[in-house]
Amino acid sequence: MGELRGVHVPVLLERCLELLSPALDRTGQTVYVDATLGLGGHAEAILTAHPRTMLVGLDRDTEALAHARVRLARFADRVHLEHAVYDELPEVLDRLGHPVVDGILFDLGVSSLQLDAPDRGFAYAQDAPLDMRMDQSRGVTAEEVVNSYSHPDLARVLRVYGEEKFAPRIASAIIQERDRAPITSSARLAELVRQAIPAPARRTGGHPAKRTFQALRIEVNRELAALETALPAALDRLTIEGRMVVLSYHSLEDRLTKVALADRVRSKGPIDLPVELPGTGPTFRLLSRGAELPGEAEVAVNPRAASVRLRAAERLDPTLQQRQRTDRERYRRRVRAMHQPGTGSAVRRLASGDDGTGTTDDEGEGHDD
Ligand SMILES: C[S@@+](CC[C@H](N)C(=O)[O-])C[C@H]1O[C@@H](n2cnc3c(N)ncnc32)[C@H](O)[C@@H]1O
Repeated sequence: MGELRGVHVPVLLERCLELLSPALDRTGQTVYVDATLGLGGHAEAILTAHPRTMLVGLDRDTEALAHARVRLARFADRVHLEHAVYDELPEVLDRLGHPVVDGILFDLGVSSLQLDAPDRGFAYAQDAPLDMRMDQSRGVTAEEVVNSYSHPDLARVLRVYGEEKFAPRIASAIIQERDRAPITSSARLAELVRQAIPAPARRTGGHPAKRTFQALRIEVNRELAALETALPAALDRLTIEGRMVVLSYHSLEDRLTKVALADRVRSKGPIDLPVELPGTGPTFRLLSRGAELPGEAEVAVNPRAASVRLRAAERLDPTLQQRQRTDRERYRRRVRAMHQPGTGSAVRRLASGDDGTGTTDDEGEGHDD
């Protein structure tokens, strides 16, 4: 197996390390899941920075796994690699005896290994059989999709997953062509798409076939369905103060991530209650403000990073939350008591340490946020 280091440059590597480190730095052994191991770039950096961390690395692509295994050979006693789709993560962790883990990374999409492989059909720039399966041992190929889907289905795939304005025209061109002979090569498809797009539009937005190829890849690999299942399942497996980072390269991936995290960071209690009921508070907090983008310097050296969106979250400690709830409630009672008629100036009483509850409070004040 050839040395591939440098072929796929890990995206937002420093930021991922910074976000995951507090969860992996704890005493004792910690467990890190790389749900999209690829060529192991992120995993190698994590294993190097955290000598007590075990890696569970998943990839649906056996070729990627083989390369990662070579790259991570020096950590062999801390590495467990699995050929699996990331929505199978709960079963993998159960099998390995990890009910919970400390850190999880999803670095979505394809690796440079897949894009550059001359025989996998992911790239519009190289002629290859129209395969596009990340896992070549199962599932339908892009060839089957382009030669069997109806016009509405093809147009929907191209419009939704490729955000392709000319989806119906491209779908018509595909159907016309396949009526003559099946479309079996990536070069043929790329040329067909180029011809279907009006000439002025071909001059903007990169290669005219880029969006069609992205759409077919997402459809062939059922990428969004797997992600929609995998994200909540992964969040469920994080231990207290465990952290998850997601790198998305497509607006729909980022949308699914945003929704999965939003579900955990909001209260599920009645909206009109002044206090949080036990068990209804947020279970996670966001570590990223909105979606974080790459810096210009990174994009300049790694164009693959241009479309990345990073989101991250940490599981909250429920006992800490309970204490904060109690502190907040105590503070509210103090303020309420001080505003009772005949109790004098609230500010004066607060300054004197008399909280009106009959107790002295040296445990600190909750913030009423
Ligand atoms: C962007 S690459 C990861 C690169 C890696 N972080 C690195 O530094 O080398 C994404 C990898 O995720 C894998 N992948 C994509 N979807 C997957 C899924 N649903 N389940 C498991 N692996 C998946 C792809 O096969 C690919 O190898």
